[in-house]
Amino acid sequence: MSRWFPMTCIALACLAPGAGPASAQSPAALAGGYAEAARRESPGFSGLSAARGEKFFQSTHGGDWSCASCHTANPAAPGRHARTAKALAPLAPAANAERFTSVATAEKWFKRNCNDVVGRECTAQEKGDVLAYLMQVGAGGAR
Ligand code: HEC
Repeated sequence: MSRWFPMTCIALACLAPGAGPASAQSPAALAGGYAEAARRESPGFSGLSAARGEKFFQSTHGGDWSCASCHTANPAAPGRHARTAKALAPLAPAANAERFTSVATAEKWFKRNCNDVVGRECTAQEKGDVLAYLMQVGAGGAR
């Protein structure tokens, strides 16, 4: 699992020969990668928290937008881009099997969206917490 830590994956593993479709990952594997990275970032790390992730997802962080502004307060529901009104597929893996199956895609959008909402990149802990929350949201939005 450690070899699949996101940055390593982007730098090396995803470009490895034969990676192809086999490089597709599961949400749980991505969450494991974020947990490992969070442990490295902070010795006091004590695990990912879906509750903390939910709070992070639903809050504005001093700006106009929260994650829910585009992905809606129910991440199992289709979203709508707050600026362009473009339709967005649901973010919760239970409602959208394509979500969190690519480290590169997850990292690209975490980076862009965290900058838009929080004004900086998210930490590994924040990304892992949000993912833990999204993995708990059922296809119907129930938790
Ligand atoms: C201004 C609108 C907007 C906001 C606010 C927003 N997102 Fe997104 N998000 C998008 C768009 C657009 C995409 C890419 C299209 C798609 O995948 O549906 C996306 C995709 C993602 C993905 C890609 C997941 C995957 O594997 O496909 C993640 C992760 C994500 N957003 C997390 C977040 C988080 C966390 C926040 C809050 C910090 C957030 N987003 C706030 C618009 C937004």
